[in-house]
Amino acid sequence: MSSLSGKHGPRYKHVAGDSEPYETIAVEKLTPIIGAEIYGVDIGRLVSEEAACNRQMDEIHRALAENLVIFFRDQHLTPEQHLAFGRSFGELHIHPAAPHDGDDPALMKIHADKDSPRANGEGWHSDVSCDLEPPMGSILHIRQCPPRGGDTLFASMYAAYDALSERMKLYLDGLTARHDGEQTFRGLYANYGVADKPSYPRAEHPVVRTHPVTGRKALYVNRGFTRFIIGVPRDESDAILAYLYQHAENPLFQCRFRWSENAIAFWDNRCTQHRAMWDYWPHTRSGTRVTVKGERPV
Ligand code: SIN
Repeated sequence: MSSLSGKHGPRYKHVAGDSEPYETIAVEKLTPIIGAEIYGVDIGRLVSEEAACNRQMDEIHRALAENLVIFFRDQHLTPEQHLAFGRSFGELHIHPAAPHDGDDPALMKIHADKDSPRANGEGWHSDVSCDLEPPMGSILHIRQCPPRGGDTLFASMYAAYDALSERMKLYLDGLTARHDGEQTFRGLYANYGVADKPSYPRAEHPVVRTHPVTGRKALYVNRGFTRFIIGVPRDESDAILAYLYQHAENPLFQCRFRWSENAIAFWDNRCTQHRAMWDYWPHTRSGTRVTVKGERPV
């Protein structure tokens, strides 16, 4: 029996409340816990006719809050439209290390091919959680897909938190952890010809954060950037983090997105982690990411 199974069904029970119907978009959930495909939106038009489509934009905001990651297919966007879509959710974040596509540093390049030593985001992480104010959300537009593979996995950190025992929730309450970009970013983009910076961001964040929009609690530690829990012996921190990572990666909290060319994924970094599968070598997968600034986690 899995540690999340109880006598009567799973110990972790997600009670999926029925949301109000949408009027300007169609929302098809991938799982009861995380992820939804959105239909009826032409993002290129939406950003050009913003005033006329405020209602649709409001519903996209709501769909993101309710589903944590949302997907749009067949979006033939120019880089300017991609940037404009990001800006309609807030100021854009500039990645501290990754290469950009073209002149605008906010348009991050996501690319792997037969010459790549690695692909972006291969381990579970929340984007740039080492920043003092980590990004609120990331909008990835994939233009070229491999024939198979290259999926992205997303996990709900609300579900991961909710499924912890009450004793573990008490233990984690009030703890903070150090997040550091140094080990992650140094040398990482050398194959793109990107020179290293003298230093990379580091920050301390609560181990459990409260989402500023939904008010829900989410686990906020990840393998990519979290180094240790502050104020406890290092061996204890290592053991607790190892448990939390393993717990957070339970497939029960996940959805998996199979890309098609010109699809978009928009995820909320405050309550999710994601992981990109690099199972398509020597094929090419290519696109751009626009990242929206966030607030200091509390
Ligand atoms: C990332 O932004 O971490 C990359 C995700 C992906 O390429 O699927």
